Parts: sequence; structure tokens; C-alpha cells
Amino acid sequence: MGRAGARLSIQMKTILALETSCDETAVAILRGGNGHPGSELLASEIASQIAEHEKYGGIVPEIASRNHLVHAPRLLESATRNAKIDMENVDAFAATSGPGLASSLMIGASIAKGLATGFRKPYLAINHLEGHLLSPFFGDGEVNPNISLIVSGGHTMLLRVDGLADYQLIGRTVDDAAGEAFDKVAKMLGFGYPGGPEIEKRAHNGDPTRFNLPRSMLDSESFSFSGLKTAVRYLLPKLKGDYVEDLCASFQQAIVDVLVRKTIAAAQKENVAVVTVSGGVSCNGELRRQLRDACARQGCKFKSAEAWLCTDNAAMIAFAALLRLQAGFESKVTDEIDPNLALA
Ligand code: KG4
Ligand code: ZN
Repeated sequence: MGRAGARLSIQMKTILALETSCDETAVAILRGGNGHPGSELLASEIASQIAEHEKYGGIVPEIASRNHLVHAPRLLESATRNAKIDMENVDAFAATSGPGLASSLMIGASIAKGLATGFRKPYLAINHLEGHLLSPFFGDGEVNPNISLIVSGGHTMLLRVDGLADYQLIGRTVDDAAGEAFDKVAKMLGFGYPGGPEIEKRAHNGDPTRFNLPRSMLDSESFSFSGLKTAVRYLLPKLKGDYVEDLCASFQQAIVDVLVRKTIAAAQKENVAVVTVSGGVSCNGELRRQLRDACARQGCKFKSAEAWLCTDNAAMIAFAALLRLQAGFESKVTDEIDPNLALA
């Protein structure tokens, strides 16, 4: 091995991360090195509990944590097997420590802390939202300054990112998150959970201009989506005939308009030339296309994660942990989970 290779191999680290903030149990193993682009994802396992919660019409925390306890050991076993790695060769253990459901967060964090203690390796507590925020840079060696739009089922926020762990909140939703609005409108239309993908599918052949739905707080840095949801609720009983596709397209366009306008306004105001989008709603093709086009018109670079990295997963937690470990961060096993953990 040449000198450069020897130097790189010394710095390579293997991270095992768990994500159990809500109703998805996920384990990932990631290997990467300092300034070494293209970290290698050795395993990424996920067990969804959607079907178990669907019959109750929402997530039942008690059922979620019981399921994490059942799934996590199985996923740890398959992840290490697929990655062809023994636990003792993992360099650090990480877990999501918030925000999320307390009883769910506790399971992943306790497992990671136990492994870190047992194998005498560092433990890293990762903010779920930082996992999303960094996901567009997955595999990159560094995080460029950017305006970050995080749109998920629980959160809608705009941040100014100046580098790893250097985040400033620009605006957040004052009521529903964008994904929550998708899910609630989908429920009104009789679709299953999660509602975003189904609305996107129906919107595909619909007319986004047929229904004039509200775009709230356009001149503010904050977001509000509950008025839009209520407008759909009042409109629905008045509709007859074929309206579902047009309604889905009009609703989706109302959300996309607000997200694109505020993100571009923030990039202009903050004079930042890179825009990123992350979180489950960033799977939405129209949001990506319209944000990419708007960025191109502004001369901004647009970056999003691949679709599989947008919804909840442990690979993004492992990536955040890898960057943090390389930057010298470490958590204490006595650090507690925090269901309301803030990002900035
Ligand atoms: O990031 P995520 O997996 O979980 C949270 O941290 O909340 O996001 C889930 C959210 C759900 O509200 C889901 O409806 C939404 O992302 N979503 C979408 C799409 N795919 C997932 N929303 C709109 N269009 C999609 N294609
Ligand atoms: Zn999430």
C-alpha cells in the first residue's frame, strides 16, 4: 500500500447507527475517512411498523417501542452480517437522541450506549433533524454553506448552514408540518398513511390551477399549513364528479409554491449560493423539480438526497455521526434523550 493509502486507512472509521425516533426501526453501518469522499455504506436495514399502527389511525407510542425492541436486535444481526463486520470492529456507536417519541428514542439510544460501553468505543447522540439536514451531502467529505429546507412529517424548517454543527434557524412552521398537511388531506380523501406519495401520484394527471387554495404567510419567514388543510376540508363537501386528481394537484402546488418561494427568498436574503432540501416530503418530484428550476433561475446550486435517504433511515444518522466523530465531537453515555431536542 502506498503512503497516501496508508494515511487514509488510518483515518477510516466504521460507524454503527440506530434510528428509532418514531415508528421506523433502522440500523446502518457506514465506513468513511477524514476528507475522504464517497464513504461506503456497508449496511442499511429498516423495519417499518406502518401496518401495525394503521388500524389505530395513528402512531401508538407503546406499540412503537415494543416493536423497536423486537426489530432492533434482528436488524443489528442482519446489518453486521451484510456488512461482514464484527461488532468489536465498529469504531463508534450512534443513535438518534431526539426529537421524537421518548419511549421510541430510548430504545435506540440505550442499545447504542450499551454497545459503546461494552466495546469501549465512543458514543454519539445525533439530532434526527441534523441527519435529514446533512443527507444531501451523504458521502461527501464536507458540508458546504447552504440554505437548508427540511420538510418531513413532523417538521418544516428553513436554516442557514455554515458548516457542520453551525446552524441558524430562519423559519419554521407555526402549526402543521408540510408532511402532516399531506397526510391529513390524504386522510380526508380516504387514502392510507403516509399520504404524501399517494397525493403525488394522483396529482400527476391533475390540473394544479383548478382550485385556488390559500398560500399562507407568504411574506414571513415562518410557515403555516393548517389554513390550507382547513380550506380543503371546507371545499370537499361541495365537490361533485371527478375532482380528486385536480384537488391533489392544486393542494400539492399550494405547498410547493410556499416552500419554493420562502427558500429562494432566504437564499437571496442570506446571500448563500447553495440550496438543499431534505426530509420525507423532499421525495416529492414536483417540489424537487420546481425548487431546482427556481434555484437555476437564481444562479444557486441545488442539492437533494436520493429518495431512499429522504424518508427516515439510519444511514443519515451514521453519516452525521461520522462527520461529527471526525470533527472531534463525542457524547457521554449519561447524556439523556430529548423528545424536543432543538437543532438551532
Ligand atoms: O422524514 P420522514 O420519513 O419522517 C419524519 O421525520 O417525519 O417524513 C415522512 C413524511 C410523511 O408526512 C409523508 O407523507 C411525507 O414525508 N412524504 C411525502 C412524499 N413521500 C413522503 N410527501 C409528499 N410527497 C411525497 N412523495
Ligand atoms: Zn424524519
